[in-house]
Amino acid sequence: MKVEDVKVVGVLGAGTMGNGIAQVCAAAGFEVIMRDIEQKFVDRGMETIKKSLSKFVQKGKISQDEMDSIVSRIRPTVEMGDLAEADLVIEAVIENMDVKKRVIKELNEIVKNQEAIFASNTSTLSITEMAAVCRRPDKFVGIHFMNPVPLMKGVEIVRGLLTSEETLEFAVEFIRRIGKEPVVCKDSAGFISNRILMPWVNEGIYVLYEGIATKEEIDKGMRLFTNVPMGPLELADLIGLDIVLAAVETLHRELGDKYKPCPLLKQMVAAGLLGRKTGRGFYDYR
Ligand SMILES: NC(=O)c1ccc[n+]([C@@H]2O[C@H](COP(=O)([O-])OP(=O)(O)OC[C@H]3O[C@@H](n4cnc5c(N)ncnc54)[C@H](O)[C@@H]3O)[C@@H](O)[C@H]2O)c1
Repeated sequence: MKVEDVKVVGVLGAGTMGNGIAQVCAAAGFEVIMRDIEQKFVDRGMETIKKSLSKFVQKGKISQDEMDSIVSRIRPTVEMGDLAEADLVIEAVIENMDVKKRVIKELNEIVKNQEAIFASNTSTLSITEMAAVCRRPDKFVGIHFMNPVPLMKGVEIVRGLLTSEETLEFAVEFIRRIGKEPVVCKDSAGFISNRILMPWVNEGIYVLYEGIATKEEIDKGMRLFTNVPMGPLELADLIGLDIVLAAVETLHRELGDKYKPCPLLKQMVAAGLLGRKTGRGFYDYR
Protein backbone atom coordinates (compact mmCIF):
# COMPACT_ATOMS: atom_id res chain seq x y z
CA MET A 1 0.00 0.00 0.00
CA LYS A 2 1.26 3.45 -0.93
CA VAL A 3 0.00 6.68 0.63
CA GLU A 4 -1.12 7.93 -2.80
CA ASP A 5 -3.44 4.89 -3.05
CA VAL A 6 -5.30 5.84 0.14
CA LYS A 7 -8.72 7.30 -0.57
CA VAL A 8 -10.69 6.47 2.56
CA VAL A 9 -9.42 6.62 6.15
CA GLY A 10 -11.50 4.90 8.81
CA VAL A 11 -11.30 6.19 12.38
CA LEU A 12 -12.66 4.11 15.24
CA GLY A 13 -13.79 6.22 18.18
CA ALA A 14 -15.04 9.80 18.03
CA GLY A 15 -13.72 10.76 21.47
CA THR A 16 -10.89 13.11 22.46
CA MET A 17 -8.44 11.58 19.98
CA GLY A 18 -10.71 10.04 17.33
CA ASN A 19 -12.36 13.31 16.35
CA GLY A 20 -8.98 15.08 16.18
CA ILE A 21 -7.54 12.33 13.97
CA ALA A 22 -10.61 12.47 11.70
CA GLN A 23 -10.22 16.25 11.44
CA VAL A 24 -6.53 16.26 10.45
CA CYS A 25 -7.01 13.44 7.91
CA ALA A 26 -9.96 15.26 6.31
CA ALA A 27 -8.02 18.54 6.33
CA ALA A 28 -5.30 16.75 4.32
CA GLY A 29 -7.91 15.82 1.68
CA PHE A 30 -8.81 12.24 2.63
CA GLU A 31 -12.36 10.93 2.84
CA VAL A 32 -12.92 9.95 6.48
CA ILE A 33 -15.40 7.60 8.09
CA MET A 34 -15.56 8.18 11.85
CA ARG A 35 -17.28 5.46 13.82
CA ASP A 36 -18.36 5.35 17.45
CA ILE A 37 -20.79 3.04 19.23
CA GLU A 38 -23.55 5.57 19.95
CA GLN A 39 -25.03 8.42 17.94
CA LYS A 40 -24.48 10.89 20.78
CA PHE A 41 -20.72 10.15 20.73
CA VAL A 42 -20.39 10.73 16.98
CA ASP A 43 -22.52 13.89 17.29
CA ARG A 44 -20.28 15.20 20.06
CA GLY A 45 -17.21 14.33 17.96
CA MET A 46 -18.56 16.30 14.97
CA GLU A 47 -19.35 19.28 17.24
CA THR A 48 -15.78 19.27 18.56
CA ILE A 49 -14.41 19.17 15.00
CA LYS A 50 -16.58 22.12 13.95
CA LYS A 51 -15.54 24.12 17.02
CA SER A 52 -11.87 23.42 16.36
CA LEU A 53 -12.12 24.34 12.66
CA SER A 54 -14.06 27.53 13.49
CA LYS A 55 -11.09 28.67 15.56
CA PHE A 56 -8.81 28.16 12.52
CA VAL A 57 -11.30 30.22 10.47
CA GLN A 58 -11.37 33.01 13.09
CA LYS A 59 -7.57 33.13 13.08
CA GLY A 60 -7.58 33.37 9.27
CA LYS A 61 -5.69 30.06 8.88
CA ILE A 62 -8.42 28.53 6.68
CA SER A 63 -11.47 29.99 4.89
CA GLN A 64 -15.10 29.19 5.70
CA ASP A 65 -15.30 27.30 2.37
CA GLU A 66 -12.30 25.19 3.32
CA MET A 67 -13.87 24.45 6.69
CA ASP A 68 -17.12 23.37 5.00
CA SER A 69 -15.33 21.07 2.61
CA ILE A 70 -13.26 19.50 5.43
CA VAL A 71 -16.46 18.83 7.39
CA SER A 72 -18.15 17.40 4.28
CA ARG A 73 -15.32 14.87 3.88
CA ILE A 74 -16.06 13.34 7.32
CA ARG A 75 -18.84 10.78 7.44
CA PRO A 76 -19.90 10.07 11.04
CA THR A 77 -21.46 6.65 11.64
CA VAL A 78 -22.38 4.07 14.26
CA GLU A 79 -22.21 1.22 11.73
CA MET A 80 -18.99 -0.80 11.73
CA GLY A 81 -19.93 -2.07 8.24
CA ASP A 82 -19.40 1.45 6.86
CA LEU A 83 -15.64 0.90 7.21
CA ALA A 84 -15.69 -1.68 4.37
CA GLU A 85 -14.12 0.75 1.88
CA ALA A 86 -11.30 1.96 4.17
CA ASP A 87 -7.69 1.77 2.95
CA LEU A 88 -6.28 2.76 6.33
CA VAL A 89 -8.03 2.33 9.67
CA ILE A 90 -6.80 4.09 12.80
CA GLU A 91 -8.37 2.82 15.99
CA ALA A 92 -8.79 5.32 18.83
CA VAL A 93 -11.21 3.44 21.09
CA ILE A 94 -10.76 3.33 24.85
CA GLU A 95 -7.40 2.20 26.26
CA ASN A 96 -8.40 -1.41 26.90
CA MET A 97 -6.65 -4.35 25.21
CA ASP A 98 -9.77 -6.56 25.06
CA VAL A 99 -11.86 -3.84 23.40
CA LYS A 100 -9.06 -3.07 20.95
CA LYS A 101 -8.64 -6.74 20.02
CA ARG A 102 -12.37 -7.06 19.52
CA VAL A 103 -12.53 -4.16 17.07
CA ILE A 104 -9.46 -5.40 15.17
CA LYS A 105 -11.09 -8.84 14.75
CA GLU A 106 -14.23 -7.15 13.45
CA LEU A 107 -12.12 -5.13 10.98
CA ASN A 108 -10.59 -8.37 9.64
CA GLU A 109 -14.06 -9.36 8.45
CA ILE A 110 -15.27 -5.96 7.27
CA VAL A 111 -12.46 -4.15 5.42
CA LYS A 112 -12.41 -5.29 1.78
CA ASN A 113 -9.02 -3.98 0.67
CA GLN A 114 -6.56 -6.80 1.44
CA GLU A 115 -3.69 -4.29 1.34
CA ALA A 116 -5.33 -1.98 3.91
CA ILE A 117 -3.19 -0.87 6.84
CA PHE A 118 -4.55 -1.07 10.39
CA ALA A 119 -3.11 1.26 13.01
CA SER A 120 -3.62 1.81 16.72
CA ASN A 121 -3.45 5.15 18.52
CA THR A 122 -2.82 3.41 21.86
CA SER A 123 -0.88 5.40 24.47
CA THR A 124 0.89 2.45 26.06
CA LEU A 125 -0.48 -0.95 25.00
CA SER A 126 1.43 -3.53 22.95
CA ILE A 127 1.20 -3.10 19.18
CA THR A 128 2.60 -6.62 18.78
CA GLU A 129 -0.21 -8.10 20.89
CA MET A 130 -2.89 -6.24 18.91
CA ALA A 131 -1.27 -7.25 15.62
CA ALA A 132 -1.52 -10.90 16.66
CA VAL A 133 -5.31 -10.78 16.19
CA CYS A 134 -5.00 -8.93 12.89
CA ARG A 135 -5.13 -11.24 9.87
CA ARG A 136 -2.12 -9.43 8.36
CA PRO A 137 0.14 -8.56 11.34
CA ASP A 138 2.80 -7.19 8.95
CA LYS A 139 0.28 -4.48 8.01
CA PHE A 140 -0.35 -3.40 11.61
CA VAL A 141 1.49 -0.41 13.10
CA GLY A 142 1.24 2.07 15.96
CA ILE A 143 0.38 5.63 14.92
CA HIS A 144 0.25 7.56 18.17
CA PHE A 145 -1.06 11.11 17.85
CA MET A 146 -0.70 13.69 20.62
CA ASN A 147 -3.52 15.66 22.23
CA PRO A 148 -4.90 18.07 20.95
CA VAL A 149 -4.38 16.41 17.57
CA PRO A 150 -4.98 19.46 15.32
CA LEU A 151 -2.27 21.44 17.15
CA MET A 152 0.41 18.91 18.04
CA LYS A 153 3.09 18.32 15.45
CA GLY A 154 4.78 15.12 16.65
CA VAL A 155 3.36 11.65 16.00
CA GLU A 156 4.97 8.48 17.35
CA ILE A 157 5.24 5.62 14.85
CA VAL A 158 5.55 2.30 16.66
CA ARG A 159 7.03 -0.76 15.03
CA GLY A 160 5.50 -4.00 16.34
CA LEU A 161 7.54 -7.20 16.21
CA LEU A 162 5.91 -8.22 12.91
CA THR A 163 5.34 -4.77 11.38
CA SER A 164 6.92 -4.84 7.91
CA GLU A 165 9.41 -2.26 6.70
CA GLU A 166 6.88 -1.29 4.01
CA THR A 167 4.14 -0.65 6.58
CA LEU A 168 6.51 1.40 8.73
CA GLU A 169 7.48 3.50 5.70
CA PHE A 170 3.81 3.89 4.82
CA ALA A 171 3.05 5.24 8.32
CA VAL A 172 5.98 7.68 8.21
CA GLU A 173 4.93 8.90 4.76
CA PHE A 174 1.26 9.21 5.76
CA ILE A 175 2.13 11.32 8.79
CA ARG A 176 4.25 13.66 6.65
CA ARG A 177 1.43 13.81 4.09
CA ILE A 178 -0.96 15.17 6.77
CA GLY A 179 1.59 17.81 7.77
CA LYS A 180 2.95 16.21 10.93
CA GLU A 181 6.38 15.00 12.00
CA PRO A 182 6.95 11.27 12.60
CA VAL A 183 9.17 9.89 15.37
CA VAL A 184 9.86 6.16 15.11
CA CYS A 185 10.36 3.78 18.03
CA LYS A 186 10.07 0.11 19.00
CA ASP A 187 7.08 -1.48 20.66
CA SER A 188 7.65 -1.11 24.41
CA ALA A 189 5.17 -0.05 27.11
CA GLY A 190 4.53 3.70 26.81
CA PHE A 191 6.92 4.01 23.80
CA ILE A 192 9.01 7.20 24.14
CA SER A 193 6.29 9.71 24.96
CA ASN A 194 4.32 8.12 27.76
CA ARG A 195 7.23 6.20 29.24
CA ILE A 196 8.55 9.63 30.19
CA LEU A 197 5.39 11.75 30.46
CA MET A 198 3.06 9.49 32.49
CA PRO A 199 5.41 9.07 35.47
CA TRP A 200 5.70 12.89 35.49
CA VAL A 201 1.91 13.29 35.62
CA ASN A 202 1.55 10.50 38.22
CA GLU A 203 4.28 12.09 40.36
CA GLY A 204 2.46 15.43 40.16
CA ILE A 205 -0.62 13.68 41.56
CA TYR A 206 1.51 12.16 44.36
CA VAL A 207 2.81 15.63 45.26
CA LEU A 208 -0.81 16.77 45.67
CA TYR A 209 -1.79 13.55 47.50
CA GLU A 210 1.05 13.97 49.99
CA GLY A 211 -0.03 17.57 50.68
CA ILE A 212 3.27 19.03 49.52
CA ALA A 213 1.54 21.86 47.63
CA THR A 214 -1.88 22.89 46.30
CA LYS A 215 -2.89 21.89 42.78
CA GLU A 216 -2.49 25.49 41.62
CA GLU A 217 1.04 25.74 43.05
CA ILE A 218 2.07 22.40 41.52
CA ASP A 219 0.87 23.37 38.03
CA LYS A 220 2.15 26.93 38.21
CA GLY A 221 5.50 25.67 39.55
CA MET A 222 6.05 23.14 36.80
CA ARG A 223 5.00 25.62 34.12
CA LEU A 224 7.49 28.19 35.44
CA PHE A 225 10.28 25.78 36.39
CA THR A 226 10.37 23.77 33.18
CA ASN A 227 8.74 26.04 30.59
CA VAL A 228 5.99 23.53 29.71
CA PRO A 229 2.59 24.94 28.67
CA MET A 230 0.72 22.93 31.30
CA GLY A 231 1.45 21.49 34.72
CA PRO A 232 0.87 17.78 35.44
CA LEU A 233 -2.63 18.14 36.92
CA GLU A 234 -3.89 20.42 34.13
CA LEU A 235 -2.44 17.97 31.64
CA ALA A 236 -4.12 15.01 33.39
CA ASP A 237 -7.47 16.82 33.06
CA LEU A 238 -6.84 17.41 29.36
CA ILE A 239 -5.82 13.81 28.69
CA GLY A 240 -8.62 12.24 30.78
CA LEU A 241 -7.89 10.65 34.16
CA ASP A 242 -9.16 7.23 33.04
CA ILE A 243 -6.66 7.28 30.16
CA VAL A 244 -3.86 8.39 32.52
CA LEU A 245 -4.69 5.59 34.97
CA ALA A 246 -4.83 2.95 32.22
CA ALA A 247 -1.45 4.17 30.91
CA VAL A 248 0.21 4.22 34.34
CA GLU A 249 -1.20 0.76 35.12
CA THR A 250 0.32 -0.61 31.92
CA LEU A 251 3.72 0.90 32.77
CA HIS A 252 3.44 -0.51 36.31
CA ARG A 253 2.54 -3.98 35.04
CA GLU A 254 5.22 -4.04 32.33
CA LEU A 255 8.08 -2.08 33.86
CA GLY A 256 7.83 -2.38 37.65
CA ASP A 257 7.03 -0.64 40.90
CA LYS A 258 8.43 2.80 40.18
CA TYR A 259 5.35 3.39 38.00
CA LYS A 260 2.79 2.60 40.75
CA PRO A 261 -0.39 4.67 40.20
CA CYS A 262 -1.12 7.25 42.91
CA PRO A 263 -4.11 6.21 45.11
CA LEU A 264 -5.68 9.64 44.52
CA LEU A 265 -5.69 9.01 40.75
CA LYS A 266 -7.51 5.70 41.31
CA GLN A 267 -10.04 7.34 43.62
CA MET A 268 -10.78 10.16 41.21
CA VAL A 269 -11.38 7.72 38.35
CA ALA A 270 -13.66 5.64 40.60
CA ALA A 271 -15.60 8.83 41.43
CA GLY A 272 -16.02 9.66 37.72
CA LEU A 273 -13.87 12.81 37.96
CA LEU A 274 -12.19 12.25 34.60
CA GLY A 275 -11.17 15.83 33.76
CA ARG A 276 -12.40 18.10 30.99
CA LYS A 277 -14.45 15.43 29.24
CA THR A 278 -16.72 14.98 32.28
CA GLY A 279 -16.58 18.63 33.39
CA ARG A 280 -14.59 17.92 36.56
CA GLY A 281 -11.16 16.56 37.36
CA PHE A 282 -8.53 18.34 39.40
CA TYR A 283 -10.23 21.53 38.20
CA ASP A 284 -13.88 22.39 37.59
CA TYR A 285 -14.86 23.06 33.93
CA ARG A 286 -18.63 23.34 34.41
N1 LIG B 1 -6.51 11.40 25.64
C1 LIG B 1 -5.28 11.54 25.24
O1 LIG B 1 -4.62 12.55 25.56
C2 LIG B 1 -4.63 10.50 24.36
C3 LIG B 1 -3.43 10.83 23.71
C4 LIG B 1 -2.85 9.88 22.84
C5 LIG B 1 -3.43 8.64 22.69
N2 LIG B 1 -4.59 8.34 23.37
C6 LIG B 1 -5.18 7.02 23.13
O2 LIG B 1 -6.23 7.15 22.20
C7 LIG B 1 -7.25 6.19 22.46
C8 LIG B 1 -8.58 6.90 22.66
O3 LIG B 1 -8.46 7.77 23.77
P1 LIG B 1 -9.45 9.00 23.97
O4 LIG B 1 -8.77 9.90 24.94
O5 LIG B 1 -9.89 9.52 22.67
O6 LIG B 1 -10.66 8.29 24.73
P2 LIG B 1 -12.18 8.80 24.84
O7 LIG B 1 -12.72 8.11 26.03
O8 LIG B 1 -12.25 10.28 24.75
O9 LIG B 1 -12.85 8.21 23.50
C9 LIG B 1 -12.90 6.83 23.22
C10 LIG B 1 -14.11 6.59 22.36
O10 LIG B 1 -14.10 5.25 21.86
C11 LIG B 1 -15.42 4.85 21.76
N3 LIG B 1 -15.53 3.39 21.58
C12 LIG B 1 -15.51 2.40 22.48
N4 LIG B 1 -15.65 1.21 21.86
C13 LIG B 1 -15.75 1.46 20.53
C14 LIG B 1 -15.90 0.65 19.37
N5 LIG B 1 -16.00 -0.67 19.48
N6 LIG B 1 -15.97 1.25 18.15
C15 LIG B 1 -15.85 2.59 18.04
N7 LIG B 1 -15.74 3.41 19.11
C16 LIG B 1 -15.66 2.84 20.33
C17 LIG B 1 -16.06 5.36 23.04
O11 LIG B 1 -17.47 5.38 22.93
C18 LIG B 1 -15.45 6.77 23.12
O12 LIG B 1 -16.23 7.75 22.47
C19 LIG B 1 -6.77 5.39 23.67
O13 LIG B 1 -6.10 4.24 23.23
C20 LIG B 1 -5.82 6.36 24.33
O14 LIG B 1 -4.87 5.72 25.13
C21 LIG B 1 -5.20 9.25 24.19
